[in-house]
Amino acid sequence: MFGEGNQNASLMFIGEAPGGDEERLGRPFVGKAGKNLDKILEKLEINREDVYISNVVKVRPTRISIRGTVSNRAPNEDEITIFTPWLNDEIKLISPKIIATLGNTPLQALFGSEYKIGSYHSLVLDYNEKTKVFPLYHPASLIYKPDLLPVYEQDILKLKQILGGL
Ligand code: URA
Repeated sequence: MFGEGNQNASLMFIGEAPGGDEERLGRPFVGKAGKNLDKILEKLEINREDVYISNVVKVRPTRISIRGTVSNRAPNEDEITIFTPWLNDEIKLISPKIIATLGNTPLQALFGSEYKIGSYHSLVLDYNEKTKVFPLYHPASLIYKPDLLPVYEQDILKLKQILGGL
């Protein structure tokens, strides 16, 4: 599954990998995490059609539980390594001004495994001379860690200010 959205977008979001809902509908961020992404877009006062949304890993990583049900898992290093060149090509095609990476996976795919979201969220990093990266926590992390919410809101405000100044 490739990204979707405005191919002339100034802002690109990059998540981790599709989950079950995304796989079923063939679109990124349409499940629970997508609802949280929609809230971010609302706070930024930007329409989904005006941004480009993608993932590092283009297929759904799954595992089978002992009960035999299929569930999501985090992508492993090999999967991230295989898909990162595709992601870099996608970024080159869109050539956004700002990439908001969501969580550790896209941050580390672009900069290396020593980049941890806890230390880098809300810092402005250079991807290349045209494109900056603004690391955000993954919207799904709010589902598990609600105390991140105030930090998250501050980070989004900062992103909004940056976008306003473009
Ligand atoms: N989480 C992601 O990182 N990407 C999606 O597309 C959906 C959930």
